[in-house]
Amino acid sequence: MGIVYHESSRTFHLYNDAMSYIIMVMRNGHLGQLYCGKRIRDREDFSYFLETCERPMTSYIYENDRTFSLEHIRQEYPVFGTTDYRQPAVEVLQENGSRVAEFQYQCHRIEEGKEKLPGLPATYTEEEGEAQSLIVTLRDAVTGGEAELFYTIFAEGGILARSVRLTNKGDRPVQLERAMSLCLDLPDRDYVWQQLSGCWARECHIHSRCLEPGVQSMGSMRGNSSHEHNPFLVLRRPHTDERQGEAIGISLIYSGNFRIQAEVDAHDTLRVLAGIEPDTFSWRLDGGESFQTPEAVLVYTDRGMNHMSQTFHRLYQRRLARGYWRDRVRPILNNNWEATYFDFTEERLLEIASRAKACGVELFVLDDGWFGDRTSERAGLGDWRANRKRLPEGIGGLSRRIEELGLKFGLWFEPEMVNSDSDFYRQHPDWILETPMRRRSHGRYQYVLDFSRKEVVDAIYAQMAEILRNASISYIKWDMNRSITECFSKAWPAERQGEIYHRYILGVYALYERLTEEFPRVLFESCASGGGRFDPGMLYYAPQGWLSDNSDAVERLKIQYGASLCYPVSSMGAHVSVTPNHQVFRNTPLSTRANVAYFGTFGYELDLNKLTEEEIGQVKEQIAFMKKYREVLQFGTFYRLQSPFEGNETAWMVVSPDQKTALVGWYRVLNVVNGRYTRLRLEGLKPDYCYRNVYTGSCHFGDELMYAGLITSDETAGQAPAGGEFCTDFASRIYVLEGTKA
Ligand code: DGJ
Repeated sequence: MGIVYHESSRTFHLYNDAMSYIIMVMRNGHLGQLYCGKRIRDREDFSYFLETCERPMTSYIYENDRTFSLEHIRQEYPVFGTTDYRQPAVEVLQENGSRVAEFQYQCHRIEEGKEKLPGLPATYTEEEGEAQSLIVTLRDAVTGGEAELFYTIFAEGGILARSVRLTNKGDRPVQLERAMSLCLDLPDRDYVWQQLSGCWARECHIHSRCLEPGVQSMGSMRGNSSHEHNPFLVLRRPHTDERQGEAIGISLIYSGNFRIQAEVDAHDTLRVLAGIEPDTFSWRLDGGESFQTPEAVLVYTDRGMNHMSQTFHRLYQRRLARGYWRDRVRPILNNNWEATYFDFTEERLLEIASRAKACGVELFVLDDGWFGDRTSERAGLGDWRANRKRLPEGIGGLSRRIEELGLKFGLWFEPEMVNSDSDFYRQHPDWILETPMRRRSHGRYQYVLDFSRKEVVDAIYAQMAEILRNASISYIKWDMNRSITECFSKAWPAERQGEIYHRYILGVYALYERLTEEFPRVLFESCASGGGRFDPGMLYYAPQGWLSDNSDAVERLKIQYGASLCYPVSSMGAHVSVTPNHQVFRNTPLSTRANVAYFGTFGYELDLNKLTEEEIGQVKEQIAFMKKYREVLQFGTFYRLQSPFEGNETAWMVVSPDQKTALVGWYRVLNVVNGRYTRLRLEGLKPDYCYRNVYTGSCHFGDELMYAGLITSDETAGQAPAGGEFCTDFASRIYVLEGTKA
């Protein structure tokens, strides 16, 4: 890994074994993009990559050069209004109304490691030699505006982290109207765009399309990164598949409004922009003030989609998530939400918890409904003190009783929200986001607290910290159940209202930071009605997130498969729930529900007292199985094998770092009678290791399993009743493979 600066050609080459990223200072002082792709040998001068030619109907910068037009040049941080007609990375509105700017090279520095981003989640380094950073300072002479472009190349994997800090070094205020985190100009558009989209209970479905001329984009204007679109984009070559080929993944470490877009111009070059959504953003910069953009992470691979995902998984597991739980297997939990909803007493909770303990569960989580007057959605949010009618000894008393059972105790909060029927709201009616003289819309009868105000965040912190200090709490589920409307803060002047969405998220991050610092042993799980804020920003504070409110095993195949494009198994909250399932009313076998949830943080979302003795036997086996294999399941190398978006069967697998243990999850949605023979070509095994298939008892070499395949055919050809337990819809199997050197 290295960052080289060639003075004679004013070229920077950032490289590691996997990738090269080359940029140069062009004759007009702007930064040009020369190359982003597979590692190439270094040389003094790469400027020939900067292709220019004379084109009709083009505006040029120099009278003596009819080739140099920004419209046709690939750039690193482009502006609009001075020969480039594409969408810009940055827009600065000046006092005279102009938006034209010229960000020209001033200086640069190369540093070991990586700077922390003030107030924002970001990747980090821990040891020497893990990464190097280049910071290029550009300056607009007229306004005195300065843009520092941060690039960090990691030693392992084709990873480049980018962000920008904009500083007003002049004495007149300016208004940032757009400040994207990343601009990537590529020389062709021969890519397939893949995004993770959906909605509540249908998050992270993979959608693909070819790039066409014009702008294609996705994002969020909801205040949260959203169920609708995840802040993640893949551009893969058309022939790329899971096993081979080029792909570029772009992931934004941010939890608020965002936009990721690709613009194909008339000559088939491609501009990708990723950052805060410009339409709901503006930021006033007075003289001397700075604005830091969120970080965007670019992963390049020429080894297929699985390799791209594994690169993200490793990075986000080890160098984005932090703290005590980062590298630890996650406790198996029982959450009471789908078991009781709002209808519980302390004794009822203890009954659920006792049964859970008897089955081997480690953590009992009390969900919504324990505080204030919260017996329905209509009241209580904001009053973070126990409802003594339900919990006579408060949270302290309940947590003690749960711990006496031999379980850890976890608790639900929704810190950013308030019901109008709450003491907190009655005391501070002006602390919510709402526009004066306008309708105030609710979502689930709740309003969004103005987290752009420090005093509001402080007041919520005080309540949460009080509970955490006075009870034995090992886990917090941090929920967020509505998006923002009528976004306006009464605490900020008119010219700063464009800052509120971003300031709100900064407030959320600040509260997370404070709580995780003060209570470092507490495991945080983020949640926003399931996957409404399942994003890398949250992962920095909460190493796991409740991926979806949809706990049906079949629905979960698509959701977990899609999410795996970017997010590691250890980050995906996945639970076994009752049948008929509460979201889709489907009946799936208990075994399949667990077989899907194993590839997540694993837990139960039901009252185990309601299961039969036979089912309880199965649950005990499932928990014992998860305890035995969770290290591999949650931290092993994950491979997608067969896509639920393409057929009736889904398969994925994980392999331990020493390649001695592999677990293959195989799932079939509908039973097939007299179907074809089926097999799965496995990945990541040692060709010369002999693997015992614990499911069939047979032994096979790794090369057989990878090149010929693991046979998954049903020998009864799906004919009930001869086929037994697998002659059914929603069947699944877990193949455990134990390898030894032959
Ligand atoms: C939405 C979450 O996603 C659920 O798991 C549950 O915690 C409810 N909120 C509680 O209101």
